[in-house]
Amino acid sequence: MHCFLYFSFLPILLAQAHRIHTEYTPPNANCIDYEIPVVVSTKGVEWIGPKRTDNYGLIDFVFLSSTRPEANFTPPVTGPVDINGTYTISGTFCSPKTKCEHSNTVLLATHGLGYDRSYWNSAFEPEKYNFAQYAVDKGYSIFFYDRLGTGRSSKLSGFVNQISIQVSILAQLAAQIKAGQYTDTIGPPKKLVLVGHSFGSFTTQGLVAAAPEIADAVILTGIGFTMQGGVVIESFDLRVAALKDKKWKGLDNGYVIWDDVYANVNVFFKAPLYTIEAVAFSEKNKVPFAITELITIPTLNYTATGFKGNVLYFNGEYDIIACGGYCPGVEQQPHALFSGSKAFQSKLQPNTGHGLNGHKNATAGYKVITDYLMEQGF
Ligand SMILES: *[C@@H]1O[C@H](CO)[C@@H](O)[C@H](O)[C@H]1NC(C)=O
Ligand SMILES: *[C@@H]1O[C@H](CO)[C@@H](O)[C@H](O)[C@H]1NC(C)=O
Ligand SMILES: *[C@@H]1O[C@H](CO)[C@@H](O)[C@H](O)[C@H]1NC(C)=O
Repeated sequence: MHCFLYFSFLPILLAQAHRIHTEYTPPNANCIDYEIPVVVSTKGVEWIGPKRTDNYGLIDFVFLSSTRPEANFTPPVTGPVDINGTYTISGTFCSPKTKCEHSNTVLLATHGLGYDRSYWNSAFEPEKYNFAQYAVDKGYSIFFYDRLGTGRSSKLSGFVNQISIQVSILAQLAAQIKAGQYTDTIGPPKKLVLVGHSFGSFTTQGLVAAAPEIADAVILTGIGFTMQGGVVIESFDLRVAALKDKKWKGLDNGYVIWDDVYANVNVFFKAPLYTIEAVAFSEKNKVPFAITELITIPTLNYTATGFKGNVLYFNGEYDIIACGGYCPGVEQQPHALFSGSKAFQSKLQPNTGHGLNGHKNATAGYKVITDYLMEQGF
């Protein structure tokens, strides 16, 4: 892994590319922003229930969703139906200023609910909490993007936005990145690694289950298959986003967000391994998500037995979303879902909750990920 100085000639500016616009640029990286057109044509569900107009309606929906199965509450959706749409996805590609052999490995990172692409590229104490900067420091290149409905990507109804649409988008991004689009001067990567957090991990696993050839490895964080939907939906303490803050008034009432900093901590952080400042930063930058994204997670097939690449499954020890609050012992099932994979590993990050990137020990977790990739020849 000898990195050498690489003198990059001024790249030709593509019409749709801008030199970095994101709020933070890792000092060790060359970053470029892309606005990427995608055409979605997939199967999904259609919302047929009432579209609640206030928080009382939302809370009753959450309550009913969290009741025991014996109550026979079924989400107000029907399907499968055809879903078609054209959208723009806004993403950032960063590669090391000092190139090395790993730089031709591209990580494609998909964030989870409540965040936008800055989950991977935090402006808050980046030497401690910034995954992109860490990965670039180890020589890797990384593409991270705003999930549809967040950041500078297109918006659509929160009663329509759902996981199958997000999988279709990730499939297109992965194919285009493999073809060398949106990778600045790196060109077509030697290897493509899909990285996810939470809903982004479900999106990633759903994709490699359906299209096993699409990537060489997957790193799945904040994901579990023993979770109880009721615990998940109740623990968020959701409110209608448009009623919460006028900056979200352009979103329809299908978009929701947790109520306050304590709800944020309840889902994403485990004491005592966080600082109040890190939590406050995360709370200030929270991003609404579609209720339909949350309730369609169980509609995909996650059996990825056809996937032949490397798999690292990496959760916080105390992840309430992935494991109901305590993860030791829950790793077995994902291995069965990846029975054809190479060097499957399942690891836990000690003293950490669902938001792995927000804890004091985050960089030690990043090292677990990059060490795995290096050991496996990426
Ligand atoms: C809409 O999506 C379906 C797949 O669900 C596809 O078969 C159909 O061709 C699409 N229609 C258009 C106009 O893109
Ligand atoms: C899920 O995918 C696996 C692997 O392709 C397949 O064997 C299984 O039948 C699928 N399950 C359902 C419910 O479609
Ligand atoms: C920090 O993370 C590393 C890597 O997982 C682990 O070995 C170490 O025990 C953790 N430290 C604490 C204080 O949790």
